[in-house]
Amino acid sequence: MLSLLLMASCTGAPDDAEAPEPAPGVQVAPFGEVDGVPVELFTLANAQGMEIRLTNYGGIVTHLFVPDAEGTPGDIALGYDTLEGYLEQTPYFGSLIGRYGNRIGGASFTLDGETWTLAANDGPNHLHGGERGFDKVVWAAEPFEETGRRGVRLAYTSPDGEEGYPGTLDMEVTYTLTDENAFEIDYHATTDKATPVNLTQHTYFNLAGVGNGDILDHELTLLADRFTPGDEMLIPTGELQPVEGTPFDFTEPTAIGARIDADDTQIAYGGGYDHNFVLNGEAGALRLAARVADPVSGRVMEVHTTEPGIQFYTGNFLDGSITGKGVSYERRSGFCLETQHFPDSPNQNAFPSTILRPGEAYTSRTVYSFDVLP
Ligand code: GLA
Repeated sequence: MLSLLLMASCTGAPDDAEAPEPAPGVQVAPFGEVDGVPVELFTLANAQGMEIRLTNYGGIVTHLFVPDAEGTPGDIALGYDTLEGYLEQTPYFGSLIGRYGNRIGGASFTLDGETWTLAANDGPNHLHGGERGFDKVVWAAEPFEETGRRGVRLAYTSPDGEEGYPGTLDMEVTYTLTDENAFEIDYHATTDKATPVNLTQHTYFNLAGVGNGDILDHELTLLADRFTPGDEMLIPTGELQPVEGTPFDFTEPTAIGARIDADDTQIAYGGGYDHNFVLNGEAGALRLAARVADPVSGRVMEVHTTEPGIQFYTGNFLDGSITGKGVSYERRSGFCLETQHFPDSPNQNAFPSTILRPGEAYTSRTVYSFDVLP
């Protein structure tokens, strides 16, 4: 009996957190079904101990194993081990977001003289593409392997009128893991009618490892001299406010928690940080946007992007009521750095345009790269 039990435990599914390192490359496994459509889990691994698991349901990154200063890989992405978790309840853990990431005020916009009404799924406003955004659809997926890199090409055609948006939007989003421990995301889209497009990735990171406390001691640098303050519902006022002298100044490395509860109207509106920063430098060029370092694990993450903005969100809405991977996700146990155009751009003429027109191509690139403190 004992030997049978031992055998069972030896041959059973490995515990996820302790999963043996897969061989470099791409592995594919069934992950379940969404409305009768089978979806898959892709495991991208390199020889440096980094591993990205993702599913073509919602383009969700489920796991991100990254070596710490000792070289020991740990999972730094909040989420679930199983598809059911994502189907039941998720605050966009690891998701691919669109057609419009972030908020559109009043859930409507006027384009070329015509007014379009979207789902009001965040009070009176529209958030992250609506009731069934790109985080809740099944993408076609094609794994690939090239020298020094491997990944998955995701494709989805959003029908004309989906979630109220004009135009058929054809998209390809490529997730790549390189031998240099970089997670690259390339977005490409075309349309047959003018439409707003603002795609982003909503992974919640905890560089100490999922389940190892909050992210308040992580040190953040944001290469942003200005941010877009909002109203109490986080819809931008239209102003580009200098961060200097405010709790939003991360131009020098600063602990995320140092001013997160400061007596400040913008902090109060966000319940912490939940704001778009105006990145320095020329949008369209891939440039350093952010750097985060965890002094305990020694993990460091850099974010490079071609986007003009980045939403820095500190998991203020997490309250311990959601459990995944055996961990209850407490307030501020993860942070997001969502590269993007500014919120509510379709209603803000002074913001960089998010309108894609027929004959044009939407392209965007973001790279999350990992290293350790010296
Ligand atoms: C974004 C928003 C937040 C919140 C999270 C998901 O980051 O800015 O306000 O909606 O997504 O909970």
